[in-house]
Amino acid sequence: MKYFIVTYGCQMNVHESEKLAAICEKMGYDLAEKREEADLIIFNTCAIREGAEDRVFGNVGALKKLKKQRKDLIVAVCGCMTQKQQTAEYMLKTFPFVDIVIGTFNLPNFEHYVNAVKAGRRQLEILEAGDIDESIPYKRTSGENAWVNIMQGCNNFCTYCIVPYVRGREKSRQKENILQEIRDVVAEGKYKKITLLGQNVNSYGKDLSPAVSFAQLLEEICQIEGNFKVWFMTSHPKDLTDDVIEVIAREDKILKDIHLPAQSGNDRILHLMNRKYTREKYLGIINKIREKIPNCRITSDFIVGFPTETEEEFEDTMSLVDTVKYDSIFAFMYSPREGTVASKMDGQVPQEVKQRRVNALLALEKQIQQQEGKK
Ligand code: SAH
Ligand code: SF4
Ligand code: F3S
Repeated sequence: MKYFIVTYGCQMNVHESEKLAAICEKMGYDLAEKREEADLIIFNTCAIREGAEDRVFGNVGALKKLKKQRKDLIVAVCGCMTQKQQTAEYMLKTFPFVDIVIGTFNLPNFEHYVNAVKAGRRQLEILEAGDIDESIPYKRTSGENAWVNIMQGCNNFCTYCIVPYVRGREKSRQKENILQEIRDVVAEGKYKKITLLGQNVNSYGKDLSPAVSFAQLLEEICQIEGNFKVWFMTSHPKDLTDDVIEVIAREDKILKDIHLPAQSGNDRILHLMNRKYTREKYLGIINKIREKIPNCRITSDFIVGFPTETEEEFEDTMSLVDTVKYDSIFAFMYSPREGTVASKMDGQVPQEVKQRRVNALLALEKQIQQQEGKK
C-alpha cells in the first residue's frame, strides 16, 4: 500500500504534510514515487490566492480517470481551502471520486477518516481551531532543514488575507516543547538548519502564561549545543522589536536573513490593508537592521493592485523597493478572497493593471539585483 501527498502553499503546509506522511506510514503505507502508483492520494491545499485554488481544482479533477481505473484508490483533500465550509462542500459535490474532505485542524484524526472510507463512508469534517497537537511526530522530508512549528494561526486580519479565517487565532506552543523538539532534531545529527515557522513569529509567546518573548525563545534555542543554524519566518514589521534584532545580531547560530513583508510602500494603502505600520516606520526598522546586522539578507512580499491603489500609490511601492534594495522579493497581484474586508471594497483594480504593475515591480527588482550583484 502506497501514499502520495501533493502540497500547495506555504512552509506551514509543507511541514503539515510531513505530519500526514508520518500518519500514513504509521498506518502501514509507504511513499509512492508517482501519484499513479499510490493507493492513497492526499492534496494539502492553500487558499491564499485564487490561482492557488484553481490549481487544486484542476489537479483534483484530473484524478477522475485514475479513480475510474482504480476503484479502491482513496483521495483526500485537506488544508486551508477545505477549512472553508463552502469550498469543502463544493469539493465533495463536484468530485464524486473524492473520499475525504477535511480542514486544517483535522489532521490528528486522519487515520480515522481513512478507516471510515474503507468501511464505505465518505468523510466531510471541519473542526474548529483546537489546541496544537503534540502527539504526532513528523516524517522530515526537507533534507538538512528541519521545520519546527512554534505557533499557529494569526490575529492580524490584514484586510486582504484569508489566513486568520482558515488557521484560527494565534496559539503558541509551549517553549519547553519547542526546545525539546529542537534538541531531539539536533541530536539526530543530520539537520544543519532549523527553520521556525509561524504566520507572525514576532508575536510568539504573548498568549502563554507566563508570557515568553520571541527574542527569549531564540536566545534559548541558541544555547542548545550542536552545529546548526536557526532561521525563522514570517516576521511582521509591526512586531519586529529591537530585542529580536539584537539577538539576531549577537547569536552566531541565527542566520542573518530576515523576511520582512512590506506589502506596499504607500501609507494610505498600508492603512487600508490594516498593516499597522507606515512606510517611515518600516524604513526605520530596515535601517536598524542594516546598522545592527551588517550584510543581513532582507527579503519581502508585495501586493500590487490592492483595491483603489492609484498609479502614484503603486509608484510608492516601486520607490520603496528601489530604496531598500532587497536581496529578493515576491510580488503578487491582489486576489479577492471571499469573506475578507478588502474583497468587499469599492475600486477593485482591473486585472490588466495588476498585471502591468506586477511586471514593472519584478523588472525593477531584476534591475536592482543586476546592479547590486545580488542573487
Ligand atoms: N503571514 C505572512 C504571510 C502569509 S501569506 C505575513 O504576514 O507576512 C504570504 C504572502 O501572500 C503575503 O505576504 C502577501 O504578500 C500574499 N498575499 C496574502 N493574501 C493575498 C491576497 N489576497 N492576494 C494576493 N496576495 C496575497
Ligand atoms: Fe495574513 Fe496578515 Fe496574518 Fe500575514 S499577518 S497571515 S498577511 S493576516
Ligand atoms: Fe496558503 Fe494556508 Fe499557508 S492559505 S499560504 S497554506 S497558511
